[in-house]
Amino acid sequence: MSGDHQREYDAYALPGLDRGGQAEAFDAIGDRYDEAFPHKEGQLAAGARLAKSLPPNSRVLDVGCGTGLPTARQLTGAGHRVVGVDLSPGMLELARAHVPEAEFHLADLAELRDGRLGLFDGATAFFSLLMLPRAEIPHALRMLRSLLRPGGLLALSMVEADVDDFAMPFLGHTIRVSGYLREELRQVVREAGFEVAGEDSSAYAPASTDVPPEIQLFFDLRRA
Ligand SMILES: C[S@@+](CC[C@H](N)C(=O)[O-])C[C@H]1O[C@@H](n2cnc3c(N)ncnc32)[C@H](O)[C@@H]1O
Repeated sequence: MSGDHQREYDAYALPGLDRGGQAEAFDAIGDRYDEAFPHKEGQLAAGARLAKSLPPNSRVLDVGCGTGLPTARQLTGAGHRVVGVDLSPGMLELARAHVPEAEFHLADLAELRDGRLGLFDGATAFFSLLMLPRAEIPHALRMLRSLLRPGGLLALSMVEADVDDFAMPFLGHTIRVSGYLREELRQVVREAGFEVAGEDSSAYAPASTDVPPEIQLFFDLRRA
C-alpha cells in the first residue's frame, strides 16, 4: 500500500488489535456456519459477477474465506486462482478440505498490509470486514485497494446496520460486528479509492433462530 496509508494502518494496528475471541468463536462454530446460512443466492450472484468480469485464470484474494464455501469453490470452479485468508484455524481446515485447489493462509487480514501475498486481479470480502471496528474498515479497504492491480475488482458484502463493534450472540458465541447504512457504505468505499460499478441487496433470514434477519448489501467495486 502507499507509504502513507501503510503507516496509518501501522499506527492503528501496532499498539495491538483486539480480536477478542473472534477466531475462537469461528473455530467453535465450524461447519455449523454453513448450516445456519444455507441460502447464499446473493453471495453466489456477486461471486458470479466477479468471476465473469475477471480475465481467465485471474489471481483472486478471498478475505475471511471461512469454510471456502461457497466462494473459494465457486471462483476456482470458474477457472481462477484463489488465495484464501482467515484468522480461524478451524475454518481454514474446512476450507482446505472443501477446496483443495485453492491456496489458504492463516492470518489476520491486517497482516496483509505488508504485501506478503503479492498482487491480485480481484478480491472478495464477503461478510468479513463487518467483523472489524468501524475505525479499521477504511484502513482495510485502502489496503485491499493497494493489493489490487490497476482496474482490479473487489466484491464486498456487508450487513446493512448502523452499528460499531457491537457484541452480538452468534451460534452460541459472542462476536463483534460493525455495519453502515447503504449510503454511508457507498461513501466509505469511495473515500477508500473504489468506484461502485454495481450494487445488489437482499433480505436474508438465516436458518438459525439466534441470528436475526438482515439486509445484505453486495457492492461490485473497481479500483479507481
Ligand atoms: C461471517 S464469516 C464469512 C465467511 C465467508 N466469507 C462466507 O461468506 O461464507 C467471517 C469470516 O471472517 C473471518 N475473520 C474475522 N475477522 C478476521 C480477520 N481480522 N482477519 C481474517 N479473517 C477474519 C472469520 O474467522 C470468519 O471465517
